[in-house]
Amino acid sequence: MADSDETRLSVSLLDVKEAHESEFQELAAEFMALISSKGYGRAGIVRDEAVPLRFYAVRHWNDAGAAAACHADPDVQRLAGRLYQIARVMHVVNGVRRPGPQPLPLDERRAGLDPDRRAGFDRRLQDLGRFEGDRRAGRDRRLGPRRLRELHGEIDLVGAARRAREHADAAFSKFKVGAALETAEGAVITGCNIENATYGLTMCAERVAMFKALSEGHRAFARIAIVADTEQPTPPCGACRQILWEFGGNLEVVLANLFVEKGTYRLRELLPLPFDARLL
Ligand code: THU
Repeated sequence: MADSDETRLSVSLLDVKEAHESEFQELAAEFMALISSKGYGRAGIVRDEAVPLRFYAVRHWNDAGAAAACHADPDVQRLAGRLYQIARVMHVVNGVRRPGPQPLPLDERRAGLDPDRRAGFDRRLQDLGRFEGDRRAGRDRRLGPRRLRELHGEIDLVGAARRAREHADAAFSKFKVGAALETAEGAVITGCNIENATYGLTMCAERVAMFKALSEGHRAFARIAIVADTEQPTPPCGACRQILWEFGGNLEVVLANLFVEKGTYRLRELLPLPFDARLL
């Protein structure tokens, strides 16, 4: 059920200064405990996987009065003072005041994107691709990733895959894998492998990431990073190559372990003679 009409939501965008993440996490935990113990509401922190050290602080106030009391609370103000020392804070949603006339401060990089430039879903139903090479012309240009923006170095895709790997449920193989998929718009969707007692229903990190992304409405992709704790790079299995190809096209595939990147490939190199809807 929806919350009562009295509840209010505030969201702030936080860019944490380098080397201050653990301090920030402690502060956030203190803040969350404080606002629930004082009955103001509840709070959470969401990491933006696309931008290093960017977080969203989400506060659900029990009502506007609770929000106001929280803002006036000296304990809260002390924590806020510490936060301002280690992070740039931008209020994105202020559920307490009436919304002002100004538009929400969007991330300029993403705001400038034309969302349809790489639409890729119908690619699977029509003969838009070619087997020989990457040259793209006419409608064929839609096959495979096209780099919309130069964000190399800005998105820590391997870092996101390493963090996702921590959530792997690999009780049987003990082989934990993390994946991070970058969409055409610059969003990052992560996955990890999930095993179960029948073994055969195991789902690889790459497919978890891709299915999560598709289920959230993403349809065009640029890169995937795959991380395992191995000396040799861990490439995607055959089933994952198929799914990545059909839904992601000729993705850039970055393989890494916990410490270093081990190589970058294109999916076409890993799946040279693909089967897809063009053959049906
Ligand atoms: N696995 C992945 O998640 N991705 C890969 O690229 C290779 C294999 C998983 C599946 C299984 O849970 C474990 O690793 C051992 O095969």
